[in-house]
Amino acid sequence: MGILLKVEKFNAGYTLKSATVHAVRDVSFELKEKEFLGIAGESGCGKSTLAFGITRMLQPPGRIFSGKVEFEGKDLLSMSEEELRKARWKDFSIVFQASMNVLNPVMKVKDQIFDAITYHTDEYNGRLEERAKELLSLVNISEKYLNAYPHQLSGGMKQRVVIAMALALNPKMIIMDEPTTALDVVVQKKILQEIDELRRKFGFSIIFITHDLSLLVEISDTIAIMYAGEIVEKAPSKTLYKQPLHPYTHGLMNSFPPLVGQRQRLHGIAGHPPDLSREIKGCPFYERCTKRIEGVCDRKAPKLVEIEPYHEVACHLYDKEIERDKVGERDANRTD
Ligand SMILES: Nc1ncnc2c1ncn2[C@@H]1O[C@H](COP(=O)(O)OP(=O)(O)OP(=O)(O)O)[C@@H](O)[C@H]1O
Ligand code: SF4
Ligand SMILES: [Mg+2]
Repeated sequence: MGILLKVEKFNAGYTLKSATVHAVRDVSFELKEKEFLGIAGESGCGKSTLAFGITRMLQPPGRIFSGKVEFEGKDLLSMSEEELRKARWKDFSIVFQASMNVLNPVMKVKDQIFDAITYHTDEYNGRLEERAKELLSLVNISEKYLNAYPHQLSGGMKQRVVIAMALALNPKMIIMDEPTTALDVVVQKKILQEIDELRRKFGFSIIFITHDLSLLVEISDTIAIMYAGEIVEKAPSKTLYKQPLHPYTHGLMNSFPPLVGQRQRLHGIAGHPPDLSREIKGCPFYERCTKRIEGVCDRKAPKLVEIEPYHEVACHLYDKEIERDKVGERDANRTD
């Protein structure tokens, strides 16, 4: 499968009068055609800033500081507004956090779908109603709701309408930023399964952002874990579930019940993430990490490196150079 999206050393955040918030720090990843990439991390770790940033939808005081974003080899960061308008929805679309609230309360569902389509293309002119019906049926909503107003729909149905709109122009990639968080867990899982079926049917790629790692493990191909603006671990979903390497991923795994086997006591992660407006010296997880190496983790920032095929982690516990230094130190201190 080819590479659809390539993000390299991407830095973005917020320039305020009082400080600069470095919300996304040196993030690099690739998304393949048809891949389902899940991105998980606690609130405030920069997931939305990343989603808005790489699609050039970050509004002031938000700002892209540096980096490279390529979609099918095209440089997204240097595209003109007109090129971007065409690319959005046709090449990629985005479903925002709490996006069901973006539906206009005084407009019928069908008019909102028509508007969304005609703003981006004239391809469906003359058969807009037919396309709107097709889209609603894809997300399992009866066509009779075309004439409904948003308040006549449940939360789950509104979210489905927004997802239908994101599918309208058959994009190659859909970014979903916590699209189901406002819904109850059963509805969330059902909608996620339906999205995955649509992905398999139409062959688009998905970046699914959530703070709930348990939602992702069964459905994603790949999972990236974000902490304090960085990707700290990335692996195929099964590998990450069976063999998480980063202490933060361990912590997240212990925060939700196991998929199979006996019930276990759940543990949250003690402490708080660092202030992203301050310089972070060393590992951003240092203050909360039970495995930290004093004198190393507080001084040197770990880099994201591939530990085994397709499994990347940013942690000094897996840093061969540091292991060598420690052995060197031990040898130097030996008296026998
Ligand atoms: N408009 C803003 N101005 C200043 N700082 C902001 C702004 N929006 C976000 N931030 C800060 O940037 C950091 C990342 O925020 P972001 O919304 O990207 O996190 P998130 O992972 O999406 O969180 P959540 O799970 O709560 O949606 C946080 O520290 C946040 O306080
Ligand atoms: S680098 Fe050190 S502090 Fe950071 S996660 Fe690894 S062991 Fe913990
Ligand atoms: Mg967010």
